Amino acid sequence: MSDTGGMEPHVPHVARMYDYFLGGHDNYRVDREAAAHVLEIVPGIREDARANRAFLGRAVRALADDGIGQFLDIGSGLPTCRSVHEVVPGRTTVYVDSDAQVVSHARTLLDGVPEALAVRGDLRKPSDILNNPAVGQHLDLDRPVAVLLLAIAHYVADDPQPLITELMAPLAPGSHLVLSHVSDGTTDPRPLFAGLDLLPPGVVTVPEWRPEDLVRPPTPHFLCGVARKP
Ligand SMILES: C[S@@+](CC[C@H](N)C(=O)[O-])C[C@H]1O[C@@H](n2cnc3c(N)ncnc32)[C@H](O)[C@@H]1O
Repeated sequence: MSDTGGMEPHVPHVARMYDYFLGGHDNYRVDREAAAHVLEIVPGIREDARANRAFLGRAVRALADDGIGQFLDIGSGLPTCRSVHEVVPGRTTVYVDSDAQVVSHARTLLDGVPEALAVRGDLRKPSDILNNPAVGQHLDLDRPVAVLLLAIAHYVADDPQPLITELMAPLAPGSHLVLSHVSDGTTDPRPLFAGLDLLPPGVVTVPEWRPEDLVRPPTPHFLCGVARKP
């Protein structure tokens, strides 16, 4: 299950804590204890994380139904709990994370899943991700790709918009950006979709993006949208 060689880690890790919030099994006691402290401070974080992951599933399925066959999930964390390759098995997926431990653990989880690959990369260096030979071998960058930036862009830069523009510029027309963004109620992530055509329903809270049922917990902390490169 892990890359720790059977040893329990002593230090919690954000990706395994996130897995715990999502209801996954790729976490350890140290992660669950740290997560319990976070839950005391941010009681809604579990619902937010799950609503964000459910948005990922609906968005990825919608794009796959529209013919998108390649997904590039940056800041992916561990590929567990209804990640891309589980939602649309058989589609080509590259998971990118800046953390070596996460990538190593992800590779273990993806053993036997030839259509999915985990590589190390940093959203702050978009061209390094796209020029990574392993990414180029796995994805056909002459064809449309869906780029996922879920709950990550706001961590890497005060204004992530130039990074997103740099990331999307070399991609083929018909590529998509799937983005969710933490909101404090005043945040407007619309500028992050500059140069792209937002798909209906536009920028909304994550449970409101093409909901599949009417029972939705209120999670106003994540705004999201999906947009197409013309
Ligand atoms: C909360 S977790 C997973 C979030 C996941 N995208 C989701 O929405 O379910 C955030 C992950 O982003 C990774 N990360 C942080 N900064 C990054 C960066 N600059 N580039 C790529 N990954 C990064 C962390 O290592 C961590 O695994």
